[in-house]
Amino acid sequence: MSVIRDSFHSRLGFVLAAAGSAIGLGNIWGFPTQAANNGGGAFLFVYLIVTVLLAVPALYAEIYLGNQTQKNSVSALMQACQQTMPKVGKAAGLIGLLGAIMMLSFYTIVAGWMLAHALGAFAEIAGFMELATWLNTWSIERNLLFTPIFIFLGAGIIHQGVNAGIEKWSSRLMPLLLFMLIGLIVYILQQPGASEGLAVYLIPDFSQVTNPELVVSAMGQAFFSLSVGVGGMMVYGSYMKKDKNLGKLVLSIAALDTFIAFLAGLLIIPALYVAQHAGQEVFANGQLIGEDQLIFQVLPTLFQSMGDVGLIVAGAFFSLLSIAALTSTISVTEVPVAYLVDDKKHSRTKATWLVSAIVFCASLLVISFFNQLFGLVIQVLTTIIQPLMCLFYFIVIGWLWQRGNKLREHAAINERTSVKLWANYLRFVCPILLSIVFVNVAVLN
Ligand code: ALA
Repeated sequence: MSVIRDSFHSRLGFVLAAAGSAIGLGNIWGFPTQAANNGGGAFLFVYLIVTVLLAVPALYAEIYLGNQTQKNSVSALMQACQQTMPKVGKAAGLIGLLGAIMMLSFYTIVAGWMLAHALGAFAEIAGFMELATWLNTWSIERNLLFTPIFIFLGAGIIHQGVNAGIEKWSSRLMPLLLFMLIGLIVYILQQPGASEGLAVYLIPDFSQVTNPELVVSAMGQAFFSLSVGVGGMMVYGSYMKKDKNLGKLVLSIAALDTFIAFLAGLLIIPALYVAQHAGQEVFANGQLIGEDQLIFQVLPTLFQSMGDVGLIVAGAFFSLLSIAALTSTISVTEVPVAYLVDDKKHSRTKATWLVSAIVFCASLLVISFFNQLFGLVIQVLTTIIQPLMCLFYFIVIGWLWQRGNKLREHAAINERTSVKLWANYLRFVCPILLSIVFVNVAVLN
């Protein structure tokens, strides 16, 4: 047990690894695409509200469950529901595992695109133009090559354990990504057309903010971005010593993640309008052309406009995105791996390769039926499974865990009124808010 439990040696180590889990393709690929498609500023506005009101409490609940039980996600939920409905707890944990596999099935495909674009830039620098074109162009063959490469890279790191390597990678490379984003924002904002994009992004059209479709998309994006609802944060919480003061840790993770998403929007949406200003067609009937390929259409145009240095910037940017995707993949893969190691007594190596093989089969399925499955899997995961799991977390810690006494006890130890208020917020307000959103989803469909 001691080999895999309590692997983060400090609170900082935990924050970095959890931020590494949260910051990924959701921030730089998912958020700007969703924002551009859902009214820019209105989406940003609702996203921030949903993050504060629901996603941050859900993140707290998930980490709290893992940290207090010191167990993998299935056993943690089972233990928390022990006195009331352990079977339901176990079933929910297993649904979380399924969610983790679903997430990896498309995430590793998109991460493969990042890897291909990084190599594409380096191939172009080296003068291999044909190879560069192949690497930079969407194709089934490219998916079939780069998805397994990415899964293999992740497995190579995970089977060694949650080690200091991941913490070091996250702490050194993520600041680099941050500086690069800021540098690119400064550059793009000086280009013609950027100010229009900036206005679209920063000035919300308030007539749109109550649109249920927008609210559901923003909520799904917020849960996806904070990696809540599939158990990854629960497992990471279990790798940290029991902590009575998780609030600050949760806030740091959420603030970092939201800041990076905000910056990504500040780069991509003005870049979209710069591309449009330069004659590129980016919208048709108010919707983005080629949605999930947005950043691969807009960013290369931006990099080209920088001249020779643009290729180096492109290579570095896509490499950093690949690494950000890797740290997120690791945390989500850790969910089924921890279950197999703790509960099924598999060796870490065997568990890692078994899970990687399952993820590979699942992504192969998505690649084979790309048009039918890719968007559907993302939608089912982010707007149904993740929010439902978060609703379950709130009910567990507020009502089921020692019949709700666990949270009351926790609030009683911390005598501060704010902690008591927080506990009541999780017990009463969060489940009601989430249920209201679900009713809207049902009405929408
Ligand atoms: N939270 C991870 C991301 O945003 C999955 O990419």
